[in-house]
Amino acid sequence: MKSKSARSLAVALSMAAASAAAQAPAAPPQDAPYKVVDGYKVDAFTMTGFRTWRAAACDRCHGANQEGMVGPSLVNSLKTLGKQEFVKVVRDGRLDKGMVSFGTNQTVMNNIDALYTYLKGRSDGAITRAKVEEMTASDKGS
Ligand code: HEC
Repeated sequence: MKSKSARSLAVALSMAAASAAAQAPAAPPQDAPYKVVDGYKVDAFTMTGFRTWRAAACDRCHGANQEGMVGPSLVNSLKTLGKQEFVKVVRDGRLDKGMVSFGTNQTVMNNIDALYTYLKGRSDGAITRAKVEEMTASDKGS
């Protein structure tokens, strides 16, 4: 039911964005603390996740929009793959199946929570395009 509540969050956020009055964004799901406005303006933490995704070039195998290529669609995978399993796969890889290990990649391992948060937002459908931007103070409604 988590993805369902995330979808209604996305709907609520887009309605909030559509209304002229600046409103504070609704609280994100607890296990994936992303904040997003208009589907692509994200908080600094989620932005770090996107930069990590780019730096590690996960898109080589999972596609620029996480839609899947050599590797599976992470939009689909993260609907069922929990955070612990995500961290394990990225750290250890599945070497026999073509998923490389990022355990010695400092950029990835230091930012694994942010990376998961970004990808979870994509999987939940709350972040509607892969290329995100950092939200401004006015997007935050402050
Ligand atoms: C060299 C190609 C390659 C790169 C680069 C790569 N992956 Fe993968 N990844 C794969 C393949 C292939 C699989 C499928 C393994 C399997 O069949 O179990 C996979 C599986 C996964 C899974 C498990 C999906 C599931 O449904 O079980 C996750 C999560 C994942 N990759 C995340 C990442 C992230 C995050 C990065 C960047 C830090 C990354 N991958 C980089 C090829 C790659």
